[in-house]
Formats: sequence, structure tokens, C-alpha cells
Amino acid sequence: MKKQSITSIQKAKGVRKLTMITAYDALFAKLFDTEVDFILVGDSLNMSFAGKSDTLSITMEQMIYHTNAVCNGAKNTFVICDMPFGTYINEKVALSNAIDVYQQTAADAVKIEGGKDKAHIVEYLTSHSIAVVGHIGLLPQNVRADGGYKVQGKNQESIIKLIEDAQAIEKAGACMIVVEGVKSEAAKAITDAVEIPVIGIGAGVDTDGQVLVWSDMLGFFEDFKPKFVRQYLQGADMVKNAVKQYKNDVENKKFPSNNEIY
Ligand code: KIV
Repeated sequence: MKKQSITSIQKAKGVRKLTMITAYDALFAKLFDTEVDFILVGDSLNMSFAGKSDTLSITMEQMIYHTNAVCNGAKNTFVICDMPFGTYINEKVALSNAIDVYQQTAADAVKIEGGKDKAHIVEYLTSHSIAVVGHIGLLPQNVRADGGYKVQGKNQESIIKLIEDAQAIEKAGACMIVVEGVKSEAAKAITDAVEIPVIGIGAGVDTDGQVLVWSDMLGFFEDFKPKFVRQYLQGADMVKNAVKQYKNDVENKKFPSNNEIY
């Protein structure tokens, strides 16, 4: 698959569905390279990779470290780096951090959470030649302030707010929007209301594409399984069985064999 560009992203809307997956290291990024349209170095890595209970404590430095690893593995895929909590509290801070991402990694875009309230940040970044992906709906970086993860778009008022959020970010220059944890009717209304691609997670089938966290999608993350996740592999079981087999072989002197020694 040819690497996406800002121009090809816009052209894909309504033509074919777009696929995004997260990655946090070069090993998996290399496996996903050219198989998907976009690789997101999500701050979800703070949970599934670092074992924390939410995304809030990851730093810009850590995101840059992981984004570098992903870019080293996926040289032919459009890579997006999540801006962590607190790294885009105002225009100047956001620009300084986004410049660090561009200067220290080969990421193609950054992603920030928020709607109308963050449109001025999106505009500031895009006017300084940083490509921005928006993120609206359920915002994981708001989990402590909101007191949990709450599905959005459950009534007309909420749907109207989500549409206004999407339109504000589009107007500010975002190249794409991730919509997380919203009722499918709301996701469809958002997708129809903007000309840039809308990528859903827990948002139904009517968005322009889908994103999943790799460790959920491949069945490696066992702590919980959100309703919207489809596991395409039983990764955790496969790894545990393989490790059991290895231990068994070591204990029974079946490993290494004569073909596996110098
Ligand atoms: O951090 C992440 O992985 C994300 C996805 C859930 C979209 O933002």
C-alpha cells in the first residue's frame, strides 16, 4: 500500500474505508507497515505498554521515544504521534512540543484531544506547518475530570455539540478526526457534517475508517475488553502456551537439540 499523504487522506473520504492501528515499538510497527493506512503512536501505550491505569502520566519525552521506534519500524506508513495530557495547554506550549515531535522523529502528524475548545490550538499548529489530527467524543485525557469513561452522543444536544466540535477542528485545519466512544448515529452525523475523514473507535460502522489499539485487536491486553473491540488473534493465550512449551522443553532437556548448538 502506498504511503498516505495529506492530499491522499482528503481524497479517500467517501471512496474507501481507512484503517488505523496503534503501535508503540519498531517490532510491531514493521509488521503493520504498509498493511494499514495509518499507525498511531497512541498515549494508550501508558496503559497497555507501561501498565498504568490511565493515559495521563505519559510525558512528551516518552512519546517521542516510542514514536522514534515506530518510525524506525514503519518507514512506509503515515505515522501520527499523540500529544500527551498537558502538552498543549496553550498555543506556544503546543507548538514547542509539536516542533520537538517533528524535529526528533519522522512522524507525519500529531493528534490532540478536544473540540471547539482546542480549535485555536489546531489552527496555531497548522498555521506553523504541523499536520494535526483531531480527537473528539470520549476523551481519555479527561477521565479524571469526568470521573470515568462516558459514551457521548446519547441525545440531540450532545450530537449537536459533537458536530460543532468536528466542524471547528476542520475549519482550524485538521487533516482528519478520530471520534471515540460515541453512539453510531452521532458518529454518522459527524462523518456527514465534515469533508475530512472521520476515523472511529467504538463509534459504529458509518465513519470513514476505524482505529483499534493493537494489543486489544490482537488479544494481548487481558485486563479488560471494551465492547467495541474485536480480537483478531488470541495473542495472550498463544504467548502463554509458547512459553509453557519452552519451559517444558528446557526441563526435559528437549531444548536445545543437536541442530541448535555450536
Ligand atoms: O491513545 C490511543 O491509542 C488513541 C486511540 C484510542 C484512538 O487515542
